[in-house]
Amino acid sequence: MPAIKVAEFAFPRMEAPDLDQMEEFLTHFGLVRAERTSDALYMRGADDHHHLHVTHKGGTKFIGFAYHASEDDLKRIARLPGASSIETLNEPGGGKRVRLKEPNGYQIEVIAGMQAVAPIKVPRDPVNTGSDPHRRAGRVMRLSKSPTTIQRIGHGVLATPKVKETTAWFRETLGMIRSDDVYAGDKDNVIGAFSRLDRGADYVDHHVLFCVHNEKTGLNHVSYEAQDIDAVFQDHEHIKKVGKYQHMWGIGRHLLGSQVYDYWQDPWGRVHERWADTDRLNAANGGNVIPAEEGFQSQWGERPPERFIGHASP
Ligand SMILES: [Fe+2]
Repeated sequence: MPAIKVAEFAFPRMEAPDLDQMEEFLTHFGLVRAERTSDALYMRGADDHHHLHVTHKGGTKFIGFAYHASEDDLKRIARLPGASSIETLNEPGGGKRVRLKEPNGYQIEVIAGMQAVAPIKVPRDPVNTGSDPHRRAGRVMRLSKSPTTIQRIGHGVLATPKVKETTAWFRETLGMIRSDDVYAGDKDNVIGAFSRLDRGADYVDHHVLFCVHNEKTGLNHVSYEAQDIDAVFQDHEHIKKVGKYQHMWGIGRHLLGSQVYDYWQDPWGRVHERWADTDRLNAANGGNVIPAEEGFQSQWGERPPERFIGHASP
């Protein structure tokens, strides 16, 4: 039995030397300012969470991930060895939290009671596919201008030399379950592990966390759900046209998770992914153990560059 089952990914917490530059990048990326204090930046999407991204003024450190859970979960998890007591979150959005350390030393926050906000309505016309009935009949498609507001947060990816230990910690502590464990050579040699939330019969993203083998430890990337595939392509053009940011990988469609992806680096090299159209699974869908040759592919799009595969922002 895991200690608790977290309900949702909340946000990554990181540092940046210049909050103006961070806000500018995240705005082009499709997030919207929720609040800015003298030393921190909180960015939201279109959903009802107060924020989905936190940056503190400082260096370039990745601090860790936060997950939503219930107040009861906080009581339970605060009893684990090494856990903090239940603390009041003294920042915009509020709520309570318990802090833990995952096996690589990054801070994991389990939070409850963050303020809800009114969702932002992003107008989208339905997409016609080859199959009948066409969903958009008698009206024309007109996309809104870029950047299209991000809908919600998706997943975080940790690069680590300790894939097995790290994955086990998240599954046993936060109640995540296996979607796909990917091995190289020997079945025991898991080099990448995709975990999703366990919300029983409810469907969730194919992964909320991916741990991938790397000599270095750090954030490989953090990801957000765009409105649709048009938004991924259209905003790719937008970010490119801004001309300030390094493109990392994409556009393509993953095999594991099936998202149409696009990866960009913030001004300090931290990789942020925008995606659309993920696979959704529930607990009954179970998990797989598969070889790397089979799993680490795209359904279309170029192979990932070495600089992405080896990427870790400490
Ligand atoms: Fe991703």
